[in-house]
Amino acid sequence: MMAWFSGLLVGIVCGLIALTIILRKTRRNRLRVQRLLTRLRANRSVLSFRARRAERLAEVGTLTGGLAHEIKNPLSTVLLNLQLLQEDLDPNDPTYNRIVSRLGTVSREASRLRDILDDFLKYAGKIEIRREPVNLNQLLEELADFFAPQAQLNHVQLRLKPHDKPLIASVDPRLIKQAVLNLMINALQAMPSGGELILSASESHSSDLAAIIDVIDTGPGIPADQAQKIFQAYYSTKKGGTGLGLAMTQRIVEEHGGQIQVQSEPGKGSDFRIKLPMNSETK
Ligand SMILES: Nc1ncnc2c1ncn2[C@@H]1O[C@H](COP(=O)(O)OP(=O)(O)O)[C@@H](O)[C@H]1O
Ligand SMILES: [Mg+2]
Repeated sequence: MMAWFSGLLVGIVCGLIALTIILRKTRRNRLRVQRLLTRLRANRSVLSFRARRAERLAEVGTLTGGLAHEIKNPLSTVLLNLQLLQEDLDPNDPTYNRIVSRLGTVSREASRLRDILDDFLKYAGKIEIRREPVNLNQLLEELADFFAPQAQLNHVQLRLKPHDKPLIASVDPRLIKQAVLNLMINALQAMPSGGELILSASESHSSDLAAIIDVIDTGPGIPADQAQKIFQAYYSTKKGGTGLGLAMTQRIVEEHGGQIQVQSEPGKGSDFRIKLPMNSETK
């Protein structure tokens, strides 16, 4: 009788312990689920905020694109009429030279406005990528050939360092050329009294297989506090610079699923590195 009673007691105690453990676990799980729900709700509100912002940005993009087109049309008429006006002037008129000089100033400024709008439309517009297998060694060689006279004129020595075997990536050659050319133009502008410009192609095996293009110059370099800003649209330290070159290059590279980085040592030069995925056919 005694043994039966103590057995029952042990059973009840064990049952109670098990119940307590189960209750605790359930409580802990409930708390965990609650925390998870709170986090999910927070993420949802961040996501919907981002979606709304992206929508608004797209809308602003469409509006400003339309605006730029609207301004370009009358600007073309202005430029055309300035030219006609110049042709109508009488060279024997004593004010001829003064008027021609003023018309020249107006034409130059109007052309500059047109260039700014063209750059904007190129930057803000949709980029359509037509991928094909491209040997990047060859692409850099073509760019170097095209750029050689300009480099020579600026006392810049252009050096090509191709990869030791064909470097094939699925890219849009026209766009990648534009992206690299922007970097080459910047390099040249950074070395007004000459220097060295190196175009190099290589392969990276760090995580995924990637093609690397380096555009290296021996210019003044970029101060650390500017390194983040230079890729922003309209950031420029040049007189008359549009500040769209690097922004456009970054956009082209990222639309290809790649990355662009800069390493620079003030006083020594800069190395702009483009990394393009080699195995992705889509993006
Ligand atoms: N190779 C370089 N060396 C030094 N500074 C550079 C170089 N490339 C770009 N930069 C800096 O980045 C800025 C932005 O360049 P970019 O977007 O091409 O516009 P822009 O050439 O019209 O100024 C330049 O004004 C310059 O200050
Ligand atoms: Mg530029």
